[in-house]
Amino acid sequence: MTRSAVIMLVALIMVASHALADDPRSNRESAAVIVIHAGALLDVENGEVLEQQVLVIEGDRIVAAGDAGSIDVPADAQEIDLRHATVLPGLLDGHVHLTSRHDVHGYRRLAISTPRAAISGAANARITLDTGFTTVRNVGAPGFADVALRDAIEAGEIPGPRMLVSGPSIGITGGHCDNNLLPAEYAAVADGVADGPWAVRQRVRENAKYGANVIKFCGTGGVLSKGTTIGARQFTFEEMQAIVDEAHTLGMRVAVHAHGTEGIKTAIRAGADSIEHASLIDDEGIRLALEHGTFLSMDIYVSDFILGSGEEMGILPESLEKEREVGTLQRENFRRALEAGVRMSFGSDAGVYPHGDNARQFAHMLEWGMTPMQAIQAATVHAAELFGLDADVGALTPGRFADLIAVADDPLENVDALTRVDFVMKGGKVYRDELTGDRD
Ligand code: ARG
Repeated sequence: MTRSAVIMLVALIMVASHALADDPRSNRESAAVIVIHAGALLDVENGEVLEQQVLVIEGDRIVAAGDAGSIDVPADAQEIDLRHATVLPGLLDGHVHLTSRHDVHGYRRLAISTPRAAISGAANARITLDTGFTTVRNVGAPGFADVALRDAIEAGEIPGPRMLVSGPSIGITGGHCDNNLLPAEYAAVADGVADGPWAVRQRVRENAKYGANVIKFCGTGGVLSKGTTIGARQFTFEEMQAIVDEAHTLGMRVAVHAHGTEGIKTAIRAGADSIEHASLIDDEGIRLALEHGTFLSMDIYVSDFILGSGEEMGILPESLEKEREVGTLQRENFRRALEAGVRMSFGSDAGVYPHGDNARQFAHMLEWGMTPMQAIQAATVHAAELFGLDADVGALTPGRFADLIAVADDPLENVDALTRVDFVMKGGKVYRDELTGDRD
């Protein structure tokens, strides 16, 4: 194809996708007015339960909210009766891998192409949305499959949560974010590998160029990678600082994979926005997180799956061994960080375990010290703040997207109610409704 033919083709695709987005039949949003009657509504900003509330939705946003009786219900509005349910904001998960499968670990990963991963992503996006997670951060995906997935969801082609995506995770040669499975003659190197301050800056710029809207790097070894030590720092302070500086300059937040004590502290000092896993954080790390306002995103459910089913799913024996070392310590440190008052955002590492099981983590957050409201705040208003999306998602207030879920049981009484989400709306469109009984 000639250059001008390529330009024509791209222009045509852009016009066509624009037309699709504007087509009233596309499932992007509905312009009609919808009124939701909520028996109970969680005000996650104030940590309160409000009874008998009304939400008015126009198009994809909430335009009014308040006590039933105090809100004018437009005569032609479509009314949704959730008077026997608890309504809360759609949930946020800050650490997922939609393009990964829980039954493809270790050497099985080598057989998965990027297009194949993208197709898994489409299926997993639907499951994630259906189970109540309306916004996720996808932190690490090969070949920008995550960008494609986000864009297909935004264009209304497939259902899925709103997505912030990182593209390939940035990491050192031989580190947690590299591919260390094969000997040298195969020359297998993961997309995001870079060493040195300028090389990592280039990776950040490249990820931005191809559509990432958050940056993820690996600051220590990990559980599921071959040949890495969980506690060992990866990248120097200078490299971490370069990544953070470049990302922040380009308007992106930085999520850092870090289990090890020193890597956690180095990343916080370098200006990371969130520490993912944070398993071996010590008192000084906690103090630094408080000082810098760094969020911790601690995946304290996934250990159950790794130790329970990991071997069957292809997880390497050395990884199982590392998980046995770190799993319980991470939970104990979750409690310590919580008691110290560190900011906590919900992150679960879905994709390591089955997508759709994200909400199982809530019970663990309670077991290790949170109140039900704190756990829900971590997955709503606090995650929204970490994502930089607090004007749009995370609470049910006028101006934000109409992203909400409803559950039949009271989640403050029994947080496991969140594993049985019966109603899901995203951007004013109902994706799941087992509650009102008047839909097909
Ligand atoms: N992706 C993470 C890693 O490989 C999973 C860690 C899971 N274990 C845990 N206790 N959170 O390091």
